[in-house]
Amino acid sequence: MIKKALFTTPIYYVNGKCHIGHLHTQFLAEAVSLWWSIDRNLENGKLEKKKFYLSTGTDEHGLKIQKEAEQRKMEPQLLTDEISKSFKETFDFYKIKYTHFIRTTQPDHVETVKKFWKKIESDIYQGEYQGYYSVSDENFVSDYIEKDGKVYTKDSNKLCEWVTEKNYKFKLTKYKDQLKKILQETNMLQPPEKLNDTLHVLNEITDLSISRSIDRVNWGIKVPEDHSQSIYVWLDALTNYYTIGSRNDVQVWPPEVQVIGKDILKFHAVYWNSFLLAHGLELPKKILVHGHWKVGNVKMSKSLGNVVDGLEIGKKYGPENIRYFLLRNANLAEDSDFIESEIPFSVNELADNQGNLLMRCFSSKIHDSQPFKCGSLTENDRILIKEINDLCVKIKGHYSTGDFRHGLIKTHEILRKANQLVDYEKIWKLKGEERLITLKYIVAECIRISAISFYPVLPEKMETIMNFLKLDFDKDVSSIYLEFDENRTYNFDNNPPRLYEKLKEK
Ligand code: MSP
Repeated sequence: MIKKALFTTPIYYVNGKCHIGHLHTQFLAEAVSLWWSIDRNLENGKLEKKKFYLSTGTDEHGLKIQKEAEQRKMEPQLLTDEISKSFKETFDFYKIKYTHFIRTTQPDHVETVKKFWKKIESDIYQGEYQGYYSVSDENFVSDYIEKDGKVYTKDSNKLCEWVTEKNYKFKLTKYKDQLKKILQETNMLQPPEKLNDTLHVLNEITDLSISRSIDRVNWGIKVPEDHSQSIYVWLDALTNYYTIGSRNDVQVWPPEVQVIGKDILKFHAVYWNSFLLAHGLELPKKILVHGHWKVGNVKMSKSLGNVVDGLEIGKKYGPENIRYFLLRNANLAEDSDFIESEIPFSVNELADNQGNLLMRCFSSKIHDSQPFKCGSLTENDRILIKEINDLCVKIKGHYSTGDFRHGLIKTHEILRKANQLVDYEKIWKLKGEERLITLKYIVAECIRISAISFYPVLPEKMETIMNFLKLDFDKDVSSIYLEFDENRTYNFDNNPPRLYEKLKEK
């Protein structure tokens, strides 16, 4: 039996190009999926088989896109075709392992949204809405500030306009208590501090307007049986997850982890969960929320001209370097400042710790390609092994909460310890001595552990190392083997792969 799971990323607005923030969500979701795929137990003596689906795509309807198309004097469909394609190209350049790329303008999704609407219809009523509306956030806002006679959203400082219109409302308040209880009793929201933010939002909610007058928003899916209204773009967009989960080639519900950035927590934790309750569908097992990348400690924005283009930066430094840099340096719960000049320093630690260790211990100068096992261990070796195992436990803990930054840091600690041991014992002087075998064994174990641990972030490079060590992916690669093992037999040649080109540090 294959264990299957669905992981999702948000779908991206098509009003601008893919930037490092979008990439971050994508890399994090992929790392979470890859870790899940190797977090496998033994079943009848064999590692269980796992397969993940990872969905992503583009969010193409709504006023934001309609206005962008007007501004560019383009048909919205052409705009969405163009930008959706550019997202895909960027993802492909980075070799992102998504399995489904959805566009909200595609017919099967449009059908799913209409069916979703019908399913929750008993919680929908006709109403009227008056209030300040942020075009940019596609949202009526309750928290706003007034400046120079104009109104702006409190959180994101976006200009708002006063809008009165007839529309359909969803009984969000009906689900308030049920949802509160679920969120409090499960650990769906990660990191856990997101629970309080969400409970605060839940305390303030009113019923939600889920349609727009077609006169104002014509670029959207029409409300079934009332074509004077288009469906609120967030209901349309959030349903993309179900479009994927219910597809014949997937059939997995609920999602295992939904990865999102901090700005869209309310839409997922409150709106999406309530829609699912209304529909009678299970809620996602986990919603993993990450902080944002800023530049010069300010928000990236087109108007400030400080947006870091995803494709350009990848071409400049290499796609795997950017992937590594973003996950290695972003604190999960907080915002992080993107400083381009730090990329080389940060990325070169891979060459210095892992690449270097491979080269200095397994090139033909030291290693003779003969099979070897663990020789006798000294008292100091045992102390080191205990430290390595303690670090492994920490790595697993960090990864299970989506904190790749600290898992990567701990993995480097293991590699640094191995390099220190090799230096201290001067491995290059040990040819022909019994100790060389044990030393090589300890190093091989540290490299094996680091290859499993770096795998969710650098899958291709780590597969190359695993192949070099002659590890069998389906037998040897699992989180349960992320600990020092004294009982392996290594049998690999002395031609280690050169994995890293060091970047010039300025
Ligand atoms: N279209 C909506 C999501 C609908 S999901 C049903 C949307 N799109 S977005 O393009 O604005 O953002 C997509 C993802 O990128 C979100 O998770 C968002 O948090 C993330 N990021 C956007 N800017 C970011 C940074 N500066 N840094 C990190 N992530 C960022 O919201």
